[in-house]
Amino acid sequence: MNEIPGETTQEQTFYEQVGGEETFRRLVRRFYEGVAADPLLRPMYPEEDLGPAEERLALFLMQYWGGPRTYSDHRGHPRLRMRHAPFTVDRAAHDAWLRHMRDALDSLGLAPEHESELWRYLTYAAASMVNSAH
Ligand code: HEM
Repeated sequence: MNEIPGETTQEQTFYEQVGGEETFRRLVRRFYEGVAADPLLRPMYPEEDLGPAEERLALFLMQYWGGPRTYSDHRGHPRLRMRHAPFTVDRAAHDAWLRHMRDALDSLGLAPEHESELWRYLTYAAASMVNSAH
């Protein structure tokens, strides 16, 4: 671990470079505020309380980017396409999901290279989750 503030090294994971857990929690918190107010997405979430879904997405993203492996300790292998199969992820759902993610990402004020790397992943992952042609 590097102790010098502001200095990054090759050994740092992307997770560490962008600010660790706090950054991913802020991203997902803001994202779910958007979902909570979205007339298309909100009814797709089976639980009344969005808190547990927020926790799962935060832990997944933290793990994906090199943080702790808590997601898989609790949930096993992600198998995200399979886990989305019960939900109709069509173009409209995809667009709404990404719109809230874009808003959440913008709220973080990350360095441009981090922001674009995260966005590239999120757009790729969202496209791969589409499971309905409508
Ligand atoms: C494209 C539009 C998407 C829609 C409409 C959507 C919708 C949903 C819904 C309704 C759930 C169930 C809520 C829950 O119980 O957790 C869910 C779960 C989840 N989604 Fe998505 N999702 C989308 C894309 C993505 C993407 C791109 C990712 C990853 C980058 C992702 C990661 C997750 C994770 C980690 C879970 C929890 C899986 C589990 O452990 O059960 N989703 N999603």
